[in-house]
Amino acid sequence: MNYLDKQTLFSSTIKAIDYLQEIECRSVAPSQKALSLLSAFNEPLTSEGKDTLATIEFLHQYGSPSTIASNGGRYFGFVIGGAHTASLAAHWLASAWDQNAGLHATSPINAKIESVTEKWLTEILPVAEGSSVGFVTGVTMANFCALAAARSKILQHLGWDVEANGLYGAPRINVVVGEEVHGSLLKALSMLGLGRDRVIRVPTDENGRMREDALPPLDVRTILCLQAGNVNTGAMDSGLLVAKAKEMGAWVHIDGAFGLWAGASDYKKHLTNGYKLADSWATDGHKWLNVPYDNGLVICRDGNQLRRAMSMNADYLDQTEDRIPYQYTPELSRRARAIDIWATMRTLGKSGIENLVTRTCVFAEFMASKLTAAGFEILNTVETNQVLVSFGNDDETNRVINEIQMSGICWCSGTIWKGRRAMRISISSAKTTEEDIKHSLESILKIARKKIFSGNEILSYSGLF
Ligand SMILES: Cc1ncc(COP(=O)(O)O)c(C=O)c1O
Repeated sequence: MNYLDKQTLFSSTIKAIDYLQEIECRSVAPSQKALSLLSAFNEPLTSEGKDTLATIEFLHQYGSPSTIASNGGRYFGFVIGGAHTASLAAHWLASAWDQNAGLHATSPINAKIESVTEKWLTEILPVAEGSSVGFVTGVTMANFCALAAARSKILQHLGWDVEANGLYGAPRINVVVGEEVHGSLLKALSMLGLGRDRVIRVPTDENGRMREDALPPLDVRTILCLQAGNVNTGAMDSGLLVAKAKEMGAWVHIDGAFGLWAGASDYKKHLTNGYKLADSWATDGHKWLNVPYDNGLVICRDGNQLRRAMSMNADYLDQTEDRIPYQYTPELSRRARAIDIWATMRTLGKSGIENLVTRTCVFAEFMASKLTAAGFEILNTVETNQVLVSFGNDDETNRVINEIQMSGICWCSGTIWKGRRAMRISISSAKTTEEDIKHSLESILKIARKKIFSGNEILSYSGLF
């Protein structure tokens, strides 16, 4: 049997390239016709199997039309960045390598790239120099790992070894979060036995930032969780809170799923002043850095603390002087996802990353200003790359969201902000061009006004940069 089926590999690569080429011309959301084709997958598992090439052709024929074009320039839903060509190509090559990234012994190349990428990340992000980085699936897991390190450190300080003895009978830990904490951080707390309902919630301001004047007294048994980038408003908690909390002896963690990347932009980095003093940070590669799923980063000032919380041993696992990747993450076996980040950072360089972050923030400001000029209400202060717009009452906003999603021209999601229905425009992709912004604005305004839009007032934005 020939395991190297070149025809299938070539064919799937060509199909993938065709898909990427066509993405800007197709509907962002799949049509009803495309969705109806999904019933083709309702087939029984055969005992003799099917031809490999035919399987890939089937997947492309019936699967590709039913994808959401989130890898194109007019997808503004959730916080989804698309995949930069460098990261996608490296991802393909690394998939062919099929490395088990857990050990140096199973993948020296992965261990090397993790070390180099760790250094680059700590240079470009607003984190402490010399921090350790673990390469996880996303920020849900990055929050989990960072909070496990915090739990370990605090309990060690109080004379308790949580890794050995668990939480039964352990001293109490207090967790302080903002009112606007992301649900995934609460989920991480629940998985760690710290409880999602035991947290102390600090009131937030009109844009969702933790109020500095409302910070409760903190101490050495407290974890303070700040947020860089509110998922609705894009608001960034103040770095002044970090210094205050550190003075009181607390462990400070920053959930910066996308907002931490503001520190890589000359235009926005002032929003991250003071963040470097924190103890741990969580961020995603698969959001603003435009790296394929799944790709998250846990960053810890004290690498020993992260390794203590994540480590395990078995006689058959060699210990070496080199980096041992499994000691930084919950998994032993996993894919070599640092390679995707490395390739993106190497290709874009510092200025390419700065441009990506700055440019998407400027697009968000532009969208907000044009929607305001057209008479619609922007519900947030646009601090980074998120815009919340209301089209009047909740029913009317719902109508506009639904029609925009069905139009296929662009895709925006909905949310509730301060009790009001809003449409969220999240601009996170390097693929978004000025043309995409113009085209999307035209269609949003046309749908919102329920009439054909002449376009004159929004065509005058050339020379935005
Ligand atoms: C502030 C914040 N934290 C955590 C998450 C969860 O990240 P992930 O989906 O990578 O687990 C998100 C996702 O949007 C987020 O915005």
